[in-house]
Amino acid sequence: MKIDIVILAAGRGSRMKSKLPKVMHLLAGKPLVQHVIETGQSLDANCHLVVGHGGDRVKEYFKDWSLAFVEQTDQLGTGHAVRQAMPGVREESIVLVLYGDVPLISAETLQRLLASLTDNSMALLTACLDNPMGYGRIVRDQQGAIQAIVEEKDATEKQRAVNEINTGIMAVPARYLRDWLPALSNKNAQGEYYLTDIIEMAVNSGVAVHACQPNALQETAGVNDRIQLADLERWHQDQLATELMRSGVTLADPKRVDIRGQLTTGLDVFVDVNTIFSGDVTLGDDVQIGPNCVISNSTIESGSVINANSVIDGAFIGQNCNVGPYARLRPGTELASEARIGNFVETKKALVGRGSKINHLSYVGDATLGSEVNVGAGTITCNYDGVNKHQTEIGDGVFVGSNSTLVAPVKIGGAAFIGAGSVITKNTEPEKLTLARSKQVTLPNWKRPEKK
Ligand code: UD1
Ligand code: CA
Repeated sequence: MKIDIVILAAGRGSRMKSKLPKVMHLLAGKPLVQHVIETGQSLDANCHLVVGHGGDRVKEYFKDWSLAFVEQTDQLGTGHAVRQAMPGVREESIVLVLYGDVPLISAETLQRLLASLTDNSMALLTACLDNPMGYGRIVRDQQGAIQAIVEEKDATEKQRAVNEINTGIMAVPARYLRDWLPALSNKNAQGEYYLTDIIEMAVNSGVAVHACQPNALQETAGVNDRIQLADLERWHQDQLATELMRSGVTLADPKRVDIRGQLTTGLDVFVDVNTIFSGDVTLGDDVQIGPNCVISNSTIESGSVINANSVIDGAFIGQNCNVGPYARLRPGTELASEARIGNFVETKKALVGRGSKINHLSYVGDATLGSEVNVGAGTITCNYDGVNKHQTEIGDGVFVGSNSTLVAPVKIGGAAFIGAGSVITKNTEPEKLTLARSKQVTLPNWKRPEKK
């Protein structure tokens, strides 16, 4: 089955009260419409995105995606919107209509909807709501066959009492849409070309209308304001937390973890409260994450412990490392196994060898450290001369005394010692103690000044 997905995303979304187009607001760290596009692409379909309000922003963001953009300059209704996409739809395709502001529709539900299609039919996703207000209502005949969808504003009192609603999502063979869409009229309460009017056309031309329901109601929930956005975010995070626990992760509190991207985990991982994972994060077996950490686009291998309040971005942390509390690992940090990064330490583009330690109050950037290095408290790599960045290289087994300043480019030979408080501007010899600080003197004849 060939599938062409048409995602409607031209509306203004005025209730968001925002400068940003509605579909670009973030849910779990991704624009609403990105969720829909990714789900669509997982079905191996061609995707067409109908844009209007804020369309330039949407197009710019997705410019490298394999997506066809369709401009709908005036929003004349959902039927009009789908019609704009039809020239790009393949001849013998099934058109699956999705909404840019209905982010959590699942591939599984869509597959069921598509599987319900038979030779001469279309399929509609409906839901039964306690409060159907605002939605189009499903009109069925005495035998239960779907006859039409009536919009709330056009419905009779009896029709409004129906609690089965149109989610808006439907699958229709393109050949039918080519006949039906040009025949829509806008003589209705809203003066719009309603996509929903094709149901009556289907019935009149003997095309069966099948209905399916979503696995969860939240899958078809639209985001119209920031309250609905927050509600849906919480529901989605609950789902993600449940999945994590099912896969062998202990969460101190499943309500206090946020996953904004792809989190891959081993067994017996422990995550304390208020941690945010964003982008692609991989945690090996037995990894422990303390409270209040922010971890983005990083890999943490098995047995490593990240202590409270650490911020880790674009880092690779090998096995059995210990990081934090209050550590900041910036992009390009790579820790070999058993390395230790302590409190108030910032690293950037730093390769830290096996078993090496930077335990307190340091900045290490553009640096390579061998194994079993000990970097004393307050050590700074001066990697920036105001114009260019330079490298610091520290050999295996080096001991850097506290409060040392390593002015790059510079190399510290293997097993060298650097005396505390040194300002190192030249390469140092291996296995030697180097001091670069003023000598301590005591003046024997010094007298305390006296009041005149
Ligand atoms: C629509 C359905 C209604 C259904 C409801 C589900 C119609 C006529 N009605 O109503 O039966 O219960 O969705 O939420 O289809 N859009 C465009 N271009 C347009 C008009 C809309 O891209 O010209 C987009 C909007 O950005 C939005 C979506 O289509 O994402 C739905 O439009 P909206 O006006 O919100 O439809 P409803 O009135 O809610
Ligand atoms: Ca509307």
